[in-house]
Amino acid sequence: MGEFTAIIQLMVTVIAGMYFYTRLRTERETEKQFKNEYKQEAEKLNRLRHIRLSEPMTELARPSSCDEILGQENGIRALRAALWGKNPQHVIIYGPPGVGKTAAARVVLDEIKKSTDTPFSKDAPFVEADATVMRCDEHGFTDPLIGSVHDPIYQGSGSFGQNGIPQPMPGAVTRAHGGVLFLDEIGELPNEQLNKLLKVLEDRRVMLESSYYNSSNTKMPVYIRDVFENGLPADFRLIGATTVSPEKIPEAVRSRCVEVFFDELSRQEIIEIVRTAALRFGVFTDPGVKECIADYAPNGRDAVKILQSAINLARMENRHKVSVSDVQWVVMASRYKRKENTYAKDGGKIIDISIIKPYN
Ligand SMILES: Nc1ncnc2c1ncn2[C@@H]1O[C@H](COP(=O)(O)OP(=O)(O)O)[C@@H](O)[C@H]1O
Ligand SMILES: [Mg+2]
Repeated sequence: MGEFTAIIQLMVTVIAGMYFYTRLRTERETEKQFKNEYKQEAEKLNRLRHIRLSEPMTELARPSSCDEILGQENGIRALRAALWGKNPQHVIIYGPPGVGKTAAARVVLDEIKKSTDTPFSKDAPFVEADATVMRCDEHGFTDPLIGSVHDPIYQGSGSFGQNGIPQPMPGAVTRAHGGVLFLDEIGELPNEQLNKLLKVLEDRRVMLESSYYNSSNTKMPVYIRDVFENGLPADFRLIGATTVSPEKIPEAVRSRCVEVFFDELSRQEIIEIVRTAALRFGVFTDPGVKECIADYAPNGRDAVKILQSAINLARMENRHKVSVSDVQWVVMASRYKRKENTYAKDGGKIIDISIIKPYN
């Protein structure tokens, strides 16, 4: 009997041993496989990080101080005044596309950060967002502007999912905390999101909600509890930009912001923008090139773009100088329309540039 029990015990021990051995092996193999996959992904990411193109020309041409933004003296003065001092205000910049609204907001903040009497610290962020791509989905599951909550059912077997913990996903307003949120095309923001944004401006924080948040869940990490109880920080100044006229912007936004206006650029200003950009790119241009670009480019951004393409055309043919025919080819290929009339800001009168003999 004793022998029989001993045999049974031995068999149970062997089976249990084999079971645990196999389990351990499987776990080790899974872990090894996971580590391998993880290593491969990390290597892939590393390889991607090592690939670098040169700095895009549009970056090179971007103004780095207020003096380099042409034709917007009044707009820049008003913008600076709104953001200056102890109590900077929210702003809306109105103006046509490509005339320096984004560039101005960026350099004005940079300049103010260096002053002494400002609440913006030296490393205050400038967060650029575009209202047309910041829309939240219809259920508000993801909201890249305001922030959202990743509920545990969407997190699968991760630790948050397993422990039933909702994960806060900060939006652009939180990334802009302590700095400026530059919201392009602010007029395009859907009403619901706009109302949320106005609430954030008022409260200077984002309150998130989730039916999965339960303050008595002991597994709830302290910081998650803190976020749900006290909100995510979102104390920033808003600079909205828009190409539409003030009447098209909701009164609730207008009344909270200082309104600043940027102008269309004159022909002379566009010529000057091309001249500065050519200098920065280190290229020579034939006589008449700048004027030719100014005849077609509706704004500063397009002027730089046309110049950039014309430079590439010349370089493709091993020429070091951009010619008028390079520009003419670019405007033809990109289907730019020649501007028949250009408003001459200086003289305050309309001049018909088609009667000016341009490219001498
Ligand atoms: N007034 C300007 N003075 C100098 N450069 C300008 C001006 N307007 C536009 N540019 C050029 O065009 C680029 C894009 O301008 P941006 O500020 O984005 O225009 P907006 O925000 O009004 O659409 C700038 O980086 C700059 O190279
Ligand atoms: Mg812009």
